[in-house]
Amino acid sequence: MRFEDKNTGDIRLPRHIALIMDGNGRWAAKRGRPRKFGHRAGVKVLNDVAKYLFSLGVEYVTVYAFSTENVNRPPDEVEELISLIRRYFKTTFREFIALGIHVRAMGDETYFPPDVVDIIKKLDADSRGRSRGVLNIALNYGGRDEIVRAANLAAAGGGPIDRAAVEARLYTAGMPDPDLIVRTGGEKRLSNFLLYQAAYAELFFTDTLWPDFSRADVDAILGEFSRRERRFGRI
Ligand code: FPP
Repeated sequence: MRFEDKNTGDIRLPRHIALIMDGNGRWAAKRGRPRKFGHRAGVKVLNDVAKYLFSLGVEYVTVYAFSTENVNRPPDEVEELISLIRRYFKTTFREFIALGIHVRAMGDETYFPPDVVDIIKKLDADSRGRSRGVLNIALNYGGRDEIVRAANLAAAGGGPIDRAAVEARLYTAGMPDPDLIVRTGGEKRLSNFLLYQAAYAELFFTDTLWPDFSRADVDAILGEFSRRERRFGRI
């Protein structure tokens, strides 16, 4: 009953939530620790928050874990992010299989070392067909690249390049658009995340740094979501 609409009594739970997990570096710096310490804390929070969202009945969770711009960070930070991807896809994220969740990456995987690509593909294959939900983990992902890639694939398909043709070639093909996009860490922008899919998403910004983001923050955001009126351009 927590997410009941005040006016109608309807429960409005989003089907698809997207998360921009920002603030790991600042969280670590506040503690006098290296940035990688923040990423380690951040991936644990991602694991917990995603499990919580699926337990509430959310069907799709899409997280921004590594942007096309992140490759330009200092090499030791990039290595730490890659080693976290390796470790979590191999072990912890496999727990989603038992929960009925398909775990998949979206983005240009060719950037990653071959063993990481194999680990990502294995979890995707082993969890495919799970029907309770999908966890999309954006890795070396950029929204503009995704749109250009989809347009090129549509052109190569030979048919008309219309919305249906492009949408069928996005990484999120077949999934509903995100109902809400949450960004932690205080910045108020999308930073090249889900540019096509964000057309009608409700946007939530919080100053909370990602490693401090909790189930209580999820509850507060879902409560506000259920009170917002979504008109999709209608009156
Ligand atoms: C932004 O914090 C966050 C990232 C660049 C990556 C998010 C990554 C994780 C939550 C952990 C790794 C994920 C996986 C799937 C293994 P920032 O470093 O930009 O923080 P800042 O804005 O405070 O500097």
